[in-house]
Amino acid sequence: MNIAVIGAGTMGNGIAQVAAMSGDKVNIFDPASEACNAGLATIRKNFDFLVSKNKLLQRDADTYFANISIVDSVREFRDANIVIEAIVENEKIKRDLFIEIENVVSAECILASNTSSISITALGKGLKKPERVVGMHFFNPAPRMKLVEVVSGLQTSESVIEEIVELSKRWGKVPVKTKSSPGFIVNRVARPFYGEALRVLSEQATDHETLDSILKSCGKFPLGPCELMDLIGLDVNLSVTKSVFEATAYDPRYAPSQLQQELVNAGRLGRKTGRGFYDYSGSRSQEKNVTNEIQTSTIPLHYISDINLDPLVKRLEHSEVLSFEGKILEENVVIAISDGRTATQIASELGIKNLILIDHCLDFSNTDEIAICASMQSDDNQIGKAKFTLEKAGLCVHQIQDIAGMVVSRTIAMLINEAADLVNQGISKPAEIDIAMQLGTGYPIGPLAWCNKVGVETITQILSNLATQYGPSRYRTSPLLSRMAQSKQTFPLG
Ligand code: NAI
Repeated sequence: MNIAVIGAGTMGNGIAQVAAMSGDKVNIFDPASEACNAGLATIRKNFDFLVSKNKLLQRDADTYFANISIVDSVREFRDANIVIEAIVENEKIKRDLFIEIENVVSAECILASNTSSISITALGKGLKKPERVVGMHFFNPAPRMKLVEVVSGLQTSESVIEEIVELSKRWGKVPVKTKSSPGFIVNRVARPFYGEALRVLSEQATDHETLDSILKSCGKFPLGPCELMDLIGLDVNLSVTKSVFEATAYDPRYAPSQLQQELVNAGRLGRKTGRGFYDYSGSRSQEKNVTNEIQTSTIPLHYISDINLDPLVKRLEHSEVLSFEGKILEENVVIAISDGRTATQIASELGIKNLILIDHCLDFSNTDEIAICASMQSDDNQIGKAKFTLEKAGLCVHQIQDIAGMVVSRTIAMLINEAADLVNQGISKPAEIDIAMQLGTGYPIGPLAWCNKVGVETITQILSNLATQYGPSRYRTSPLLSRMAQSKQTFPLG
């Protein structure tokens, strides 16, 4: 097959490498000759690395490299079967390029865009054959990341989508189909992973290190949101949020965070500037001040039974754990799992003082860490003893401020809500969304599988309690989740 790649930058050279390694002929065009040279050098270096690790024979590397040519004009794309553009992220420039290319290529040639945020429908505007325009959204680095979002605009033909799906498979990728919508699947569903973290930090419920630690240990996410924003670049991450915010007609659910904007204003962009949330300058970080009095005695814990909390309760056999029956002494401590209310609210509704909320964990039966918060009316001494009781089960206990939905609970509820909205709006299918989130972001489990595991009623309860606390604009429950909770359904993921 003849593949044309336009733009030899980060994504363009990666895509060219993928195509060349599948035996396709690749012509690359980029008006910047230094970009062409740098792109070719990157591919050569990648092949050399694979050869040095015995993952590729030198002979094959040479053959693949010979599949790639640099051309000095798009007029050279006459014989292309598929053109993939990976140029600057600008709608008009991309569209003008497609209009120019359409006059060069055959009537059957497919025009694919690697855009991360521009509407595929908009890119087809003004073309003679808009049905040949499709999104082929690779992830960085393209040779290593398996996921390709195959994005259809309103006018994209079914046969073009299927051809790109087949091509992606032949290139060793995992294609997921999605309709063109702001952020497609991954960049849309992932928004709350950052957004909720920024809100927790804005409310000073904890510091960024503890927040990252909770999401990694309890949520089993490969990176915490603050580490990840530092890696992506706070400016890049903020601009994706802003683009989704604008493309959704300023839906407050995607409103950018002032905290993030201020970090960008200060030039604290993350790893690339030596400082973001974390300091990468090499100077030693300050030891945290631990002011709490350390308790060394355990106490019986009364727990509010919940199937999500029961695996943790089983691990507390060393101490007395009693089911909460509605009446306790003033000094007793009750533990419960976070349901989107604050500990203070639950304690007040139950007419008790000492209440500890425990944040959701992906798997309570083998977590090393848990996050807790205590009601404002609680007695510090009793909470300290309860904390020690939890620590005696071998758990590292992070105490955060009493914030609705804590950290993991609000994050997973919002990821699930976003994914459910995509299903509800017919943008993608449940199984494809879960695959996209696992391959595109490394989440330990797809959000909809997580919903099935925790229970859709639990998730809708968290969302509705968050909506009561903060107002419904951000935390409104997806209508699909509400219907599923009412009819006790699970997402079909088979
Ligand atoms: P880049 O800045 O590394 O490369 C863009 C290249 O396009 C440059 O070499 C530039 O000389 C060339 N170019 C600009 N205007 C051109 C034109 N009119 N004709 C031909 N070449 C032109 O950018 P990068 O990161 O590779 O991004 C390219 C596209 O891929 C963008 O649409 C971006 O949103 C998308 N994307 C980027 C990802 C990333 O992580 N960098 C991930 C997935 C998609």
